[in-house]
Amino acid sequence: MTHHSTDREAGAVEQYLEESLGLHLESLEKGREHARAAGLPAIEVSAGQGKFLQLLTEMIGARRVLEIGTLGGYSTSWLALGVGASGKVITCEFEPLHASVARENLERSGLADRVEIKLGAAQGTLDTLISKRAEAFDLIFIDADKRNNVVYLERALKLSHPGTVLVLDNVVRGGAILDDPSQLGNQEADVRGVQESLLWLRDHPQVSVTALQTLGAKGWDGFALARVV
Ligand SMILES: C[S@@+](CC[C@H](N)C(=O)[O-])C[C@H]1O[C@@H](n2cnc3c(N)ncnc32)[C@H](O)[C@@H]1O
Repeated sequence: MTHHSTDREAGAVEQYLEESLGLHLESLEKGREHARAAGLPAIEVSAGQGKFLQLLTEMIGARRVLEIGTLGGYSTSWLALGVGASGKVITCEFEPLHASVARENLERSGLADRVEIKLGAAQGTLDTLISKRAEAFDLIFIDADKRNNVVYLERALKLSHPGTVLVLDNVVRGGAILDDPSQLGNQEADVRGVQESLLWLRDHPQVSVTALQTLGAKGWDGFALARVV
């Protein structure tokens, strides 16, 4: 029996799965290249996670999706594929360069019609949606500054209906989630933000939640998946 080193081979297995399942879509990969060339950080979801988001969106028949954290529009594109031509994705991004790269990518891949990029700090955008009594979203993907996760969750709930699915990315952070919250400094505000958001999800009477670990080219992480009840 061959023994494999998990750390060393997780990236190779991810690549194998992506290739054997055909998860790389040409237009979306071009978008990733464009984002790299524009200097955006390589912190988007993997192709497997992107397809997971598309499938989840399709499985619940989501027509309206809210995303917090656009970057170059990679996960946005998968969500846009999930909602279909008559669906809508609203995505929040505060870096003008990220938003403009995302807009170009979505236009090039023919998905721009179903996506609205809201430029500005996500908290303000969400508060405006709430005050304007925006129609509830069917799925909300939270993937921005993790220190504000609870801020986003509180607002996400106000923009939800019973059955809305919440996905919270990067909840494991290479195991840093185990660190003692009382020992965390300002540098680890995102770790504390994730810890607080998991407790919030556990304690909220309107939420049913789980979390799954992931391993791949970008290391060890995971996501929380919740349903508004
Ligand atoms: C991890 S990246 C998003 C990756 C993207 N969801 C994907 O998988 O393709 C996080 C993004 O959130 C944006 N962001 C961070 N803090 C924000 C805030 N307070 N309001 C709006 N956007 C923010 C960052 O500029 C960055 O583009």
